[in-house]
Amino acid sequence: EQLHSDLHIRPLASTDYRRGHLSVLSVLTVVTDPGEDAWVAQFNLWKSALHTYYGIVIVDKASDRIVAVGTIFVERKFLRGLGSVGHIEDIAVDERQQGKKLGLRVIQALTRISENSGCYKTILNCSDKNIPFYEKCGYQKKENEMAKYA
Ligand code: ACO
Repeated sequence: EQLHSDLHIRPLASTDYRRGHLSVLSVLTVVTDPGEDAWVAQFNLWKSALHTYYGIVIVDKASDRIVAVGTIFVERKFLRGLGSVGHIEDIAVDERQQGKKLGLRVIQALTRISENSGCYKTILNCSDKNIPFYEKCGYQKKENEMAKYA
């Protein structure tokens, strides 16, 4: 299925701070704005870790604003014949655009990147209320998350 022609899906770009990258993420959690220079430095850090961090965004063409975001991080293991695992992180869709399959499109794109990177599995953490969404994306519940905050 195609994305609506008003929208465009592409990799995160160094200029996306100005397209509201952080405001879309604010549907997920409280976002503190580090400012554009620090945002770009983080973007460059992602790039310097080759083949490791991939950001995907969906942009509304008319307004040139980001409406959906997601990340995949490729972890390289000593196990599984030096296998890799894809970790999906920070999926967010602008409130006004939720329920239009944009989240699904982001997950599909990230899963494709993970599989094309040779990852033998792709995993993520989510709240109970998001389980049905990820099941629609083809994911299954497995094990538990443990966390310790600093
Ligand atoms: N309960 C049941 N079904 C759901 C739910 C839900 N809470 N959310 C989505 N679905 C279903 C949709 O109905 C649709 O089903 P269909 O194909 O039968 O029509 C399917 O899942 C795909 O839904 P999308 O339209 O792609 O969902 P959306 O674009 O709204 O994105 C998302 C879902 C990312 C959870 C979005 O609502 C959002 O940004 N929420 C707030 C932030 C958040 O919770 N992000 C995820 C955190 S987990 C993580 O980042 C790893």
